[in-house]
Amino acid sequence: MADLRSLFAGIRSPNPFWLASAPPTDKDYNVRRALAAGWGGVVWKTLGEDPPVVNVSSRYGAFNYNGDRLVGLNNIELITDRPLAVNLAEIKSVKRDYPDRAIVVSLMVPCVEESWKRILPLVEETGADGIELNFGCPHGMSERNMGSAVGQVPEYVEMVTRWVKQNTRMPTIVKLTPNITDIMQPAGAALRGGADAVSLINTIQSVVAVDLDAMAPMPVVGGLGTHGGYCGPAVKPIALRMVGEIARNAVTRGLPISGIGGISTWRDAAEFLVMGAGTLQVCTAAMHYGFRIVEDMITGLSNWMDQKGFATIDDVTGRAIPNFVNWNQLNLKFRTLAKIDQDACIKCGLCHIACEDTSHQAIAKLHIDSARRYEVIDEECVGCNLCAHVCPVDDCITMVPQPVEGVLTWPHHPNNPARAAE
Ligand SMILES: Cc1cc2nc3c(=O)[nH]c(=O)nc-3n(C[C@H](O)[C@H](O)[C@H](O)COP(=O)(O)O)c2cc1C
Repeated sequence: MADLRSLFAGIRSPNPFWLASAPPTDKDYNVRRALAAGWGGVVWKTLGEDPPVVNVSSRYGAFNYNGDRLVGLNNIELITDRPLAVNLAEIKSVKRDYPDRAIVVSLMVPCVEESWKRILPLVEETGADGIELNFGCPHGMSERNMGSAVGQVPEYVEMVTRWVKQNTRMPTIVKLTPNITDIMQPAGAALRGGADAVSLINTIQSVVAVDLDAMAPMPVVGGLGTHGGYCGPAVKPIALRMVGEIARNAVTRGLPISGIGGISTWRDAAEFLVMGAGTLQVCTAAMHYGFRIVEDMITGLSNWMDQKGFATIDDVTGRAIPNFVNWNQLNLKFRTLAKIDQDACIKCGLCHIACEDTSHQAIAKLHIDSARRYEVIDEECVGCNLCAHVCPVDDCITMVPQPVEGVLTWPHHPNNPARAAE
């Protein structure tokens, strides 16, 4: 049986599944129920200085697509709106009762050293296992020069991380904002500041929809709307890329990464792990389906690891990184061809229409004995995958790799002007 125990930046948990800092980790009641359901750890909803912030009503916007709900979730919430002392007392009591779980406390205070010096000993006193610096919240707090207002300036990320490391013995995870062009800038800054790990992604700045009656972005608050933070399954591709980028970069290689962004199933979790994550944080999926989803995640990941022969989480972390390369390293000689399983085909014609109208005119529509039939024209097929992606029948269209002779990458290709100049 696979061993799911995790040791991440000095923080132990019985499995790598943590709840991300958000409403599911906002208070004692939620956190206890989550831990009872089997979560390996939690990152407590971000604490700030008193007096607490004030939240608005309503708070969430949804991106539903083709009948699937919460493909994306957008929120305009701030950090915790409960008094600091109440949160600290609850954290202490939860940690006392669940000593084997990772209890990490998310923090966001003004960008002055005194504020950090004040709050760190209070958190340490709770017995929490570590802290996460919220440099990511993209709305409300950023207008108060916190959250992503810090995370978008690498110099600030480095400076605040250094202040924190100088004033606490707790492992420090720096949570990065994706609202930046080059994720390596804040990641490198966190490392220089002494971070023990990074976590990403926080939410993506977004307007999720517009209410066409109220004529305002959603969620509408008394006739007005604002941009919020986007998360859920829709953001997974963005998060995976950023996690992989940090994992493969020579500067940050080896820096522990807590992967966040759209993780809803064990398969998502496995993908984040092989792209370099050591632990996984979940928010939207728990808000959508409840805490018990962790059971499927644990069982699924464990079964997959057994099948693949991976004994520990460390065996899995970063497995795909050697194969995550720059475009220039791809083999231009490699080719795949679409193949249609005629028995599975329902003759809907979508593959033909997509290819004929928008791609390479490589799927012929034939009429044989008054029946429709779709056939791939091998000479025209470039192996783009579009037909397989639009086909509504699983595995009806497969992409078949062709025999490859040798390797030719762009730097060595005769069409590359740089090579011609050599
Ligand atoms: C309603 C809501 C509130 C959130 N509050 C916080 C917060 O206080 N601190 C923080 O670091 N991240 C916060 N987040 C971001 C999540 O921790 C997480 O980074 C993000 O939702 C991506 O994960 P997901 O796709 O699994 O939801 C919040 C997210 C949501 C949906």
